[in-house]
Amino acid sequence: MVSANRRGSGPRSGAEHVDTPVFTPGPDGLAHLELILNGTYPLPGFMTRTEAEAVSRDARLPDGRPWPVPVILEVPEELSGADRLTLTDPEGAPLAGLSVTEHWRDQGGGHRLAGAVRLLRPPTYGVLRELRPSPAEVRAQRELEPSGRPLLAVVTDRPLHHRALHQIRAESQTLGRAYGEGERAEVLVLIDTGLEDEGMAPAVLAAEPLLPARTSFVVCTLPRTADRSRGALGGVWGPREVGLAAHVAAAYGATHMMAVTDGEGLDVERVMARRPPLTVLAPEPWRHSAAQGLWMPLTQVDPTEARAELTDAQVETELAHGRELPAWFTPARVGAELARLRPARTKRGLTLLFTGLSGSGKSTIARGVCDGIRRSGRSVTLLDGDVVRRMLSSELTFSREHRELNIRRIGYVASEITRHGGVTVCAPIAPYAAGRAEVRAMVEEFGDFFLVHVATPLEVCEARDRKGLYAKAREGKIPEFTGISDPYEEPQDADLVVDTEGITPEESVARVMAALREGGWLPDHDG
Ligand code: ADX
Repeated sequence: MVSANRRGSGPRSGAEHVDTPVFTPGPDGLAHLELILNGTYPLPGFMTRTEAEAVSRDARLPDGRPWPVPVILEVPEELSGADRLTLTDPEGAPLAGLSVTEHWRDQGGGHRLAGAVRLLRPPTYGVLRELRPSPAEVRAQRELEPSGRPLLAVVTDRPLHHRALHQIRAESQTLGRAYGEGERAEVLVLIDTGLEDEGMAPAVLAAEPLLPARTSFVVCTLPRTADRSRGALGGVWGPREVGLAAHVAAAYGATHMMAVTDGEGLDVERVMARRPPLTVLAPEPWRHSAAQGLWMPLTQVDPTEARAELTDAQVETELAHGRELPAWFTPARVGAELARLRPARTKRGLTLLFTGLSGSGKSTIARGVCDGIRRSGRSVTLLDGDVVRRMLSSELTFSREHRELNIRRIGYVASEITRHGGVTVCAPIAPYAAGRAEVRAMVEEFGDFFLVHVATPLEVCEARDRKGLYAKAREGKIPEFTGISDPYEEPQDADLVVDTEGITPEESVARVMAALREGGWLPDHDG
């Protein structure tokens, strides 16, 4: 549940109390921590093994209260025996003290700490901080002006297009009807976005004028669960995620909730079977009638002319190629915000990672590709393996741990360049799938990632042996040499495999350039 630490987080010195170790939880640990500290969770801290197992098994705490997801703090081995911890944000600012009541290990051997947390300093970390009030603050605000109306929470990590906007207005109207003609439920839009990444929040906020009059917005960060990853335009939601969202919405005072997802496949019955603290609605499906130029409930549209909204994949394609989203699908202001957040690929940040054995030709091809990218009019930063080893990682060895640290540093720099819309070409060996996946995840928070496997066979690399390293490795003079005495995990997720056998480096470069043009990252012709 708590993903691996990155970006230099981990045990640190310089604790609140000299002898209390300091730890920065991973993104999900931080998300849980904030939800505990601000009173969203009715829990004093991180769960014990018994609690976590009961929740995983029955969706209930041992005392019988329904609860959808384990709330776990994963720590590195060196902290697994700690009795107290100071938990900090990624910048090192103390957030909470943890009094450990149980040290436990999960089935995979991961170390977990259970215990109550105590707020040390309110978090200042996280994007859109001013839009992250606590549930108590929101409830108090509503009590100042009580409307007596139901509160419909709309939980979303994606923009609200016409389909969802119609459903929200219709549900708000249905819920309000009991209170009189034309009455509406109030709406609270809970925007789920990363702590470090504003995600789609600005595009969600852009729909404000199209929502019922009494609509407010709160930004929160729900932890990723095993079934849910963040996609570029919104994550995938299952019953657990919706269940957690229901508990969060209830804490903010909501009486009803709907989750905005890609498509209409949400299994609300399964969510309700877990006894959430409010009613989770299954809004009726809406379709666009091409003939009438209107959105209508599915039941009122002639099926032959009914149009469902664009899928995430279709939206992604339109945006990637810089095309405007159609007006029947989304309001212009939402479309404009989305186009800003997901610019056309010719303007979007891009990281190309070349992976392959030493001597495979990565650096040569990468250099040629950089020249081509520059010629097309985009600027580019080359993070070559050997250069990074000199400039960023000179103290590192070639142990697995150090190779992973090396690739994490490369990924961090690349993701920052990507954030600013630049192009980065990286060419380390990057022998481990886990490290490459970590770079992909870091980069995709801000832009696109493209993995090129330079698949020159070992025999060919060794026969060339430009630097004479293979000979030395065979003699045992260089330990842990990739391909000889250390592993290279062939990528299963390469976006392009360049088999250099029988083709010139120029041809290899041309293949990569063609793929970049086809994908829309570069203009069709050199400028
Ligand atoms: S990585 O594994 O951490 O990605 P990186 O690309 O930075 O490797 O460095 C690889 C370069 O370091 C090789 O091209 C080679 O010149 C040199 N090198 C020195 N020792 C080793 C080793 N044990 N394994 C692989 N490459 C090595």
